[in-house]
Amino acid sequence: MTALTDSEAENMEQKVALITGASSGIGKSTAERLAHAGVRVALAARREDELKKLADRIDSEGGDALVVPTDVTDRNDVQETVDKIEDSFGRLDILINSAGMMVLDQVQEANMNEFQRMVDVNVIGLMEVTQAVLPIMQRQESGHIVNISSLAGRKSFPGASGYSASKYAVNGFSDALREEFTGEETEYIRVTDIEPGFVETELSEGLPPEWMETLDPDDVARSIRYAVSQPAHVDVNEILLRPTQMEL
Ligand SMILES: NC(=O)c1ccc[n+]([C@@H]2O[C@H](COP(=O)([O-])OP(=O)(O)OC[C@H]3O[C@@H](n4cnc5c(N)ncnc54)[C@H](OP(=O)(O)O)[C@@H]3O)[C@@H](O)[C@H]2O)c1
Repeated sequence: MTALTDSEAENMEQKVALITGASSGIGKSTAERLAHAGVRVALAARREDELKKLADRIDSEGGDALVVPTDVTDRNDVQETVDKIEDSFGRLDILINSAGMMVLDQVQEANMNEFQRMVDVNVIGLMEVTQAVLPIMQRQESGHIVNISSLAGRKSFPGASGYSASKYAVNGFSDALREEFTGEETEYIRVTDIEPGFVETELSEGLPPEWMETLDPDDVARSIRYAVSQPAHVDVNEILLRPTQMEL
């Protein structure tokens, strides 16, 4: 396991992170990585049983985890989650927006209801959670939003029209948000896009074998930990990482 430098470890101490999509894949690995670094973690997703298993493991290893079952497309749910975190931990420093889904289909054959659902989770849900945490970060005068975009948010390919559209949207949202918080009074909120190529998770199950040169979820989690452990004056804007052998 790669160790943090002393100053990186200091930058993480006492922090609180909300991680959406924490029941599997990248969100789950990130929760574990951050908890190991001393961050208190609030675990959000719909599958409460999976979140509880993860929280028990984190707690048994000396971490501090809070289970907050949440559907990111439900505005009331999202607000309740943020309120619960503030009640339990009294602050919120890091948001990892990892909840997401992928529907791959050629435009001509695509089921637009499925595309709608994907955009609701990947884009609108991500924006809802971000908006809900901002008042706390503004009060604290510090905060870090990490959006899990994708290589597909930088480059598209046949069959990925809907998914890519959702991830290009995430990148656009992140850029605008960063600029909204750039200025003498408000330069304390950082925004990072993480753009992985294929990662072996539930989301990538069933992809054609020729695409399946993959990253491990923990490879992505380490890149997130790097971004959030930098000193306050360093805003890592984006990290694009792909499997070395990936052809796309
Ligand atoms: N795997 C890849 O190749 C890859 C590559 C680049 C980017 N990404 C992105 O990385 C992020 C995480 O994906 P993953 O690969 O880790 O996939 P995953 O293992 O399928 O995880 C997706 C997570 O999103 C949660 N989720 C889905 N809909 C939700 C909703 N409505 N409300 C709350 N949580 C919801 C799921 O939990 P519940 O079902 O319990 O709600 C699950 O925890 C996604 O944004 C994805 O687009 C993945």
